[in-house]
Amino acid sequence: MPRLAPPAIAPGSIRRLPQPVLRSDALVLRPWRAGDEPTVVEAYADPDIRHWHDRSMDADEAAAWVAHWAGRWQAETGAGWAITIDDEPVGQISLRTFEHGDGISEVSYWVLPGARGRRIAPTALRAVATWGFETVGLHRIQVDHATQNTASCQVATRAGFPLEGTKRGAYLQSDGRHDAHLHARLADGVS
Ligand SMILES: CC(C)(COP(=O)(O)OP(=O)(O)OC[C@H]1O[C@@H](n2cnc3c(N)ncnc32)[C@H](O)[C@@H]1OP(=O)(O)O)[C@@H](O)C(=O)NCCC(=O)NCCS
Repeated sequence: MPRLAPPAIAPGSIRRLPQPVLRSDALVLRPWRAGDEPTVVEAYADPDIRHWHDRSMDADEAAAWVAHWAGRWQAETGAGWAITIDDEPVGQISLRTFEHGDGISEVSYWVLPGARGRRIAPTALRAVATWGFETVGLHRIQVDHATQNTASCQVATRAGFPLEGTKRGAYLQSDGRHDAHLHARLADGVS
């Protein structure tokens, strides 16, 4: 059944553009490409990334993961970037959903252990949000994280995504259920 409101993001409006390279400070956010697989395997060997993203990653899975982003862009189901410094990947950030009807997206990010504490994630989050609001026409971008993940809470808050509330029992992970914080930023700057 058709919705009464027109979609906030016209279907096809994302894939008609090439996925951009985004720059902020020393960071260059570029699409994933062949050759990035070892970084992805290294990332998911880190206990915190493994735990909070609730997945393991071997070499074959990393190859599939790197390759799948091009299809996600074409299908307009997500957009993923390698966060790089001096052409070396140090993390990932993605708009992992596009809800065309309401103009909403959700974010995922991680930073390799050796690169943490340098504001890489909040800087990348601001860059992706600016692109999502200004180019895609998103109305709202959300970050949610387990309440115990205080580093992620700091990233979202620092990037201008205030806390909206707590989703009780939102995640089932290897160690059981977790409550999650929901943060969001709106296109019009009204938090
Ligand atoms: C959360 C994460 C992306 C933060 O990235 P970052 O680029 O280090 O972000 P920041 O530099 O802004 O640091 C954020 C917080 O991390 C913590 N932190 C700082 N240095 C750190 C280090 N060397 N190692 C671990 N955590 C550190 C601090 O609490 C910091 O907040 P504060 O400076 O206000 O005290 C990163 O820690 C990470 O990848 N964690 C594992 C995966 C994850 O949690 N992903 C998000 C799931 S929702």
